Amino acid sequence: MLGKPLTLIIPERYHEYMQGGLERVVSTGVFDLGGISFEFTGLRKSGEEFPAEMSFATWKSRHEVFFSCIVRDISERKRADKALQQEKEFTRTIIETADVIIIALDLEDKVILFNRKAEEVTGYCRDEVLGKELLKTIPMRMDREAFAKMTQEITSGAAVSPYHQFITTKSGEEKIIFTRGTQLKDTEGRVIGVLETGVDVTEQRSMETKLLQAEKLRDLGELAGGVAHDFNNVLAAILGRAQLLRMHLEEFAGSERRKAYHELKQGLEVIERAAADGAETVRRIQEFARIRPDDKDAVAVDINKVVAQALDLTRGRWKDEAELKGIYFTIVKQLSDVPPILGSPAELREVLTNLINNSLDAMPGGGTIRVETFKEHTHVCLRLTDTGSGMPPHVVERIFDPFFTTKGPQSTGLGMSVSYGIITRHQGTITVESKDGSGTVFVIRFPLKEIEKVSQEEPPQAVKKTETETAAILIIDDEEDVRELLRDILTMHGHEVAAARDGRQGLEILASRAFDMVFTDLGMPGMSGWEVATEVKKIAPEVAVALITGWGINLDKDDMEKSSVNHILNKPFTVDDILRLVREALTLKKMKE
Ligand SMILES: Nc1ncnc2c1ncn2[C@@H]1O[C@H](COP(=O)(O)OP(=O)(O)OP(=O)(O)O)[C@@H](O)[C@H]1O
Ligand SMILES: [Mg+2]
Repeated sequence: MLGKPLTLIIPERYHEYMQGGLERVVSTGVFDLGGISFEFTGLRKSGEEFPAEMSFATWKSRHEVFFSCIVRDISERKRADKALQQEKEFTRTIIETADVIIIALDLEDKVILFNRKAEEVTGYCRDEVLGKELLKTIPMRMDREAFAKMTQEITSGAAVSPYHQFITTKSGEEKIIFTRGTQLKDTEGRVIGVLETGVDVTEQRSMETKLLQAEKLRDLGELAGGVAHDFNNVLAAILGRAQLLRMHLEEFAGSERRKAYHELKQGLEVIERAAADGAETVRRIQEFARIRPDDKDAVAVDINKVVAQALDLTRGRWKDEAELKGIYFTIVKQLSDVPPILGSPAELREVLTNLINNSLDAMPGGGTIRVETFKEHTHVCLRLTDTGSGMPPHVVERIFDPFFTTKGPQSTGLGMSVSYGIITRHQGTITVESKDGSGTVFVIRFPLKEIEKVSQEEPPQAVKKTETETAAILIIDDEEDVRELLRDILTMHGHEVAAARDGRQGLEILASRAFDMVFTDLGMPGMSGWEVATEVKKIAPEVAVALITGWGINLDKDDMEKSSVNHILNKPFTVDDILRLVREALTLKKMKE
């Protein structure tokens, strides 16, 4: 190579350019070949071309210009450069075409990357957000402080779980983004910000809500169907009997009145029973629909005591009646000394009673019921086993559905669903295991709780009787039947009664004379029962107000104290319910005096 022209290692097509350049250097003495070093295409002896770099050094003597050059093969460097370029392009393509929102923030929460999906979802283009604080550009439900705290947690390496972020798009729409933040690091591994990757779940959320709604409606339909069915039975009995009685009364006269009296009594008994059954169905539906746990009323409950009480309540079925029919049941109790749980004794008794009744139904020829209580880790458990008919899988599957029954029209099919609701409200679980023909096992588990602070006593069930006293009572109800029924009940028991058909009329009467108590209906045209109560208290604060309602309202102590209502009377009520309320009102009044 020495002594040969430089063009030997340059492909022929560049010779002219090279030559021209060299000549210019020689003639002007100015080196202008594009820098001290430059890249060019080299030529190997084999004829193969390769990327090369040439570095020059020139010097001049008086008449001549010399230059030396170093030629380097830079194929390797070129390959690495290309690979890097390719990788960058890949990343860019991934970020830009990904169907996820990708936003990178620096340590001051300023946006340094905002991909196409982010633009699409938010409606903002990157020029509007890059370099700005994200929250200042795109409004979110999270405030700045909380957002900054979260990004700080992410950058410091804390595990922040993905969360739902509610953002407002440029067009003012609210969208829900399910997003996850991770640390953003530079090549040296230093944390330089946060990378948020998120998906728009707005549509999915609204679909879920719709589905839930549809499911609710279906359940409601099922519920309504069941209620209608049961009520038709009850109403048929009431209506039929009432008509019959009227006909009899018209028929019988004079000497036959005694017979008529007997029939009347029998008929009334059926009506009473049917109405009570109807009321019971409503109570169970209300029980089933009640979601809010009445924590304030919860007490420490000894589950063993509940077992004993439920067995007592059902004794008629598994002992007395059964033995009369020559059927024998064995009750095995294996009760361990378990800690009390927090809840409502009455509700838990209902669960146990439902389970025992079902087991008895499943053993028409007699059998064994075993009740065990035990502690298991952090739970108090109750296991109830019977040797009854058991259930095929398709029954097991539907056992907790409201109105599901295999027992025909005389059963409501609410026992297990009500029980399920009660257990869930007590934060417990219930499992069932059963095979067709080989008995059933239920296991109920309640979480162990700190219950020292809670009262250990069951609340008193009934109010003590005070000596019979006469009370002055005002009835306000727009429904004549209810109003007259109340009037009859109260006057029959010696109370003085005035009645009004709406709130306005009631308040007028109240202003004209003194009363001990007001019974007011809740839903009335003009003024609601709550409003009547408030007005009554303004006129006469010492008067007790009882609100009559068909809505199954259960107010806890605090809510009651806040309202002007002293008592709630749920429809349908019994004579005893009314008289108890009057007694309570009189006792309270006396205590205050
Ligand atoms: N221990 C059991 N053995 C066999 N089948 C049972 C048992 N417990 C429940 N079942 C089945 O589950 C169904 C639903 O029970 P659930 O207590 O909800 O309603 P029901 O007993 O039919 O009616 P209700 O309790 O309202 O009078 C029953 O009809 C019965 O088929
Ligand atoms: Mg049942």
